Amino acid sequence: MPAVVIIGGQWGDEGKGRIVDLVAQGASVVARYSAGNNAGHTVINDMGEFKLNVVPAGIFYSDKTCIIGNGVAVDPAVLLNEIDTLSTRGVSVANLFISDRCHVVMPWHPLIDVADEALRGAAAIGTTGRGIGPCFTDKVARLGIRVGDLIDPEAFRARLEFVLPYKNKVLQQLYGLAPLAFDDVFASYSALGARLAPFVRDTALIVHDALDRDETVLLEGAQGCLLDLDAGTYEYVTSSVPSSSAGGAGIGIGIGPTVIQQVVGIYKAYMTRVGNGPMPSELLDETGRILQVEGPRPEIGTTTGRKRRTGWFDAVASRYSAMVNGVTSGVLTRLDVLDNFPSIQICTAYETEDGRILKSMPASSATLRTVKPVYEEIEGWRAPTSGCRTWDDLPPNARAYIRRIEKLLVIPIDIVSVGPERDQAIIVHDVLKVKPRT
Ligand code: GDP
Ligand code: IMO
Ligand code: MG
Repeated sequence: MPAVVIIGGQWGDEGKGRIVDLVAQGASVVARYSAGNNAGHTVINDMGEFKLNVVPAGIFYSDKTCIIGNGVAVDPAVLLNEIDTLSTRGVSVANLFISDRCHVVMPWHPLIDVADEALRGAAAIGTTGRGIGPCFTDKVARLGIRVGDLIDPEAFRARLEFVLPYKNKVLQQLYGLAPLAFDDVFASYSALGARLAPFVRDTALIVHDALDRDETVLLEGAQGCLLDLDAGTYEYVTSSVPSSSAGGAGIGIGIGPTVIQQVVGIYKAYMTRVGNGPMPSELLDETGRILQVEGPRPEIGTTTGRKRRTGWFDAVASRYSAMVNGVTSGVLTRLDVLDNFPSIQICTAYETEDGRILKSMPASSATLRTVKPVYEEIEGWRAPTSGCRTWDDLPPNARAYIRRIEKLLVIPIDIVSVGPERDQAIIVHDVLKVKPRT
């Protein structure tokens, strides 16, 4: 009964959606376990190009069950819009289910998100402004409203009667914003709840039934380890509880850690980051610009349309994420973006202002902001890789680059992605097949 977790190994946008779409064929359940519509997962397959925010990327296989697990924050209007868009484009949502334990993104959450960023001023996080942080904050503060409440008018009324006056005080007294009217919120969210109700289940039971039948359950992470509340570059992180790390997967779907047999870490062949916070290997020069805009798919945030910051592959941060997630299997994406560089750098250590060499990730964002990357140079391959489908098709220098990353991260790279489309990949090992830990 294998459960396999897919996580982002960097600052998000590594290509998780694209890889889930590729490997979901071998699973019977695909489940999102954390975050909300701050995530944006792009999938390109024979049905077209899709940007998914909350719906798992297994949705394109009509025989798979797709689950939005209890760890996900659900903005009902956004999710219903996503469901409608998929349906209109011929993608069946008949096997999509939403946990009754999901927390609901309420109208005060985006307001607080944006107002709080303004309050932070120069120290703003650069959030997506979708209200996801405030929703998870309320979850932890025991002020949340859950999907199960939303679809039950009496429970919803009682909960809103308690929570809204509290939140209106916060809106007015802390942020100087107008209060929200009870009747408006109750009416509009009850209507959304009624539309969501047919999808709502105790989704943990569905997952356990599949596991009991010895079927494979694929757990789709959002964001990346370096945005994780605990492991990431605090405080420039996201607020998901449970986190998007492998350790959060079981909690966010309702399975125990013993069931998870494989952790697949997705890594981009270089680094990107959206929003603020330290990024030691960031390139603010022409090379950074080329990585940002000249690749086959420019580095533009899927959710907010912001340009992603770019830099060389950071093996210090990436090794840390492989370690704390227990990654058993690595995936390298967007290798094709490096095709034309005469030489490529890998950051293998950080040098501090007082000349110390750090080989592991420091906890402090203030330290990370001042370190200088120590680079190792690899000769580029200067040949197109987007048509490669086997390991031997890859140019020798591209293979050397991948081998070096494997060594630095101490994980095998089992899939190399050389383009955004489903078939543009080299599968060295089936990541759903459990292998012994090395
Ligand atoms: P996610 O959030 O991890 O699912 O990643 P996003 O979808 O936000 O960003 C990944 C971007 O890279 C999308 O535009 C994908 O279409 C694109 N992409 C994924 N894999 C590859 C690849 O191997 N090569 C290229 N050129 N683009 C890719
Ligand atoms: P996927 O799943 C990239 C970033 C935001 C910001 C920080 C906090 O597509 O990889 P938030 O709105 O979550 O409070 O913002 O986290 N962020 C992401 N960056 N990909 C994501 O998701 C992200 N989700 C949040 O840009 O820096
Ligand atoms: Mg994304």
